[in-house]
Amino acid sequence: MRGEYCVGGASFLSFAAILLLIFVHVGQINTSLVPHGIAMAKIDTSGFGQALSQSTYVQVIQGLYTTNYTSPLGERNGLRQYYEFGLYSYCAYVNSSAGTCTNHTIADSFVPYIAITSDMAQNYTQYSDSWFAGTTYMNSSYLGYNSRVAYYFILLGTIFATIALFTGVARTALLFFISTGSSIVAALFILIGAAIWTSIVKECESINTLDVAHVNGTIVSGMFVSYGNGIYLSWAAFACLAAATVPYMVSCCTFRG
Ligand SMILES: *[C@@H]1O[C@H](CO)[C@@H](O)[C@H](O)[C@H]1NC(C)=O
Ligand SMILES: *[C@@H]1O[C@H](CO)[C@@H](O)[C@H](O)[C@H]1NC(C)=O
Ligand SMILES: *[C@@H]1O[C@H](CO)[C@@H](O)[C@H](O)[C@H]1NC(C)=O
Ligand SMILES: *[C@@H]1O[C@H](CO)[C@@H](O)[C@H](O)[C@H]1NC(C)=O
Repeated sequence: MRGEYCVGGASFLSFAAILLLIFVHVGQINTSLVPHGIAMAKIDTSGFGQALSQSTYVQVIQGLYTTNYTSPLGERNGLRQYYEFGLYSYCAYVNSSAGTCTNHTIADSFVPYIAITSDMAQNYTQYSDSWFAGTTYMNSSYLGYNSRVAYYFILLGTIFATIALFTGVARTALLFFISTGSSIVAALFILIGAAIWTSIVKECESINTLDVAHVNGTIVSGMFVSYGNGIYLSWAAFACLAAATVPYMVSCCTFRG
């Protein structure tokens, strides 16, 4: 195979990976269309009121949710129906479109239990504290630490992918060597970041079927955790980077200027 085609293919794959990773980074930084559509994890709390009412025998749960979508998060202003977590902030929505986000933080911790209960009145958190006791979902230090580690792997993976893209186009043996190395490191780091996120969200999913209430014959906890598409985008970026290492290696050995 001609070296030029190899470099072209590797550059294309690196570029695609960087694009995917940019989408991962912008997830939930604000509520506009594209960031709104991308999250690492999602939690649907819309059934929590019903679960709470069934479990505590209180017919109408007052003031659990808020309908004011602009009211700040984390200040016990009322629960929102949908919580979506990104790498820098999380947003909470009262319906499919209207919501608000937290301030941006580098290496923001994924601490869903704190995020959600800090929107509830204190007298409701006592119930959720006892229901979710002992779950990974409530283990905020574990989730926070792992999500911060995953963030740095994804950030460094993005940086190495960019280095691979820019060094890969020059016609010198040293730069080909650097681009091959960067591409391998980028693939490895994105793999680790994506695997950590996948595993922590998977562990949180165990609350979905926690026996708090029975709604239509199904055991529910009133909170439903699911993977966000940011995780799938990270895996796709890993696949592109892993695929790019082959043509980088080939051109590294065959296409010296
Ligand atoms: C909604 O919350 C915002 C921010 O706290 C506040 O300024 C506004 O007055 C609230 N709107 C209503 C209808 O309560
Ligand atoms: C969501 O809520 C906002 C504010 O209450 C409202 O303006 C908007 O029409 C709602 N959107 C949908 C799809 O229900
Ligand atoms: C978020 O940022 C705004 C503006 O910089 C600041 O006033 C506010 O205190 C911040 N909120 C938190 C929770 O840090
Ligand atoms: C439970 O069943 C009722 C009646 O079939 C339906 O209206 C309601 O949406 C269901 N609730 C859930 C959470 O599926």
